[in-house]
Amino acid sequence: MYPTPNSTTAPVPAARGQSQTIDLAQKISQINGHWQPRVVAEMNDYQFKVVKVQGDFQWHLHADTDETFVVLDGELRIEHRASADGDHSVIVLRRGQMAVVPKGVEHRPCAENEVQLLLIEPRGVVNTGDGAKGERTVENDQWV
Ligand code: NI
Repeated sequence: MYPTPNSTTAPVPAARGQSQTIDLAQKISQINGHWQPRVVAEMNDYQFKVVKVQGDFQWHLHADTDETFVVLDGELRIEHRASADGDHSVIVLRRGQMAVVPKGVEHRPCAENEVQLLLIEPRGVVNTGDGAKGERTVENDQWV
């Protein structure tokens, strides 16, 4: 149903990442492979996830939630496609930059070279968006 995780994952910690120092670079260094988001902490119903990406992801959307991308290293391109009028826009994020993709807007993150990201989104969001799961769909709530 889901691909076997190719990274070490940790059990959900009781403190859910709170009241402790979280070193994002150190967390990312524990992830093997791209497009494998791992939760590092929660704030209310939101999760902070680190991920390494490279290449073009698939077009997808999240009908019920916005999605925040913070670039920790590298250069990320996010293509947007408004479903109604087909408008296409592209933004580029570099280290220290962030963007919020609005809910309901189709988007595709692309990285020519490896990019390290922090994602902020509600618990339960599926990385490949709403609808059918694909080979890049990963199981939720995997911690590192
Ligand atoms: Ni998304």
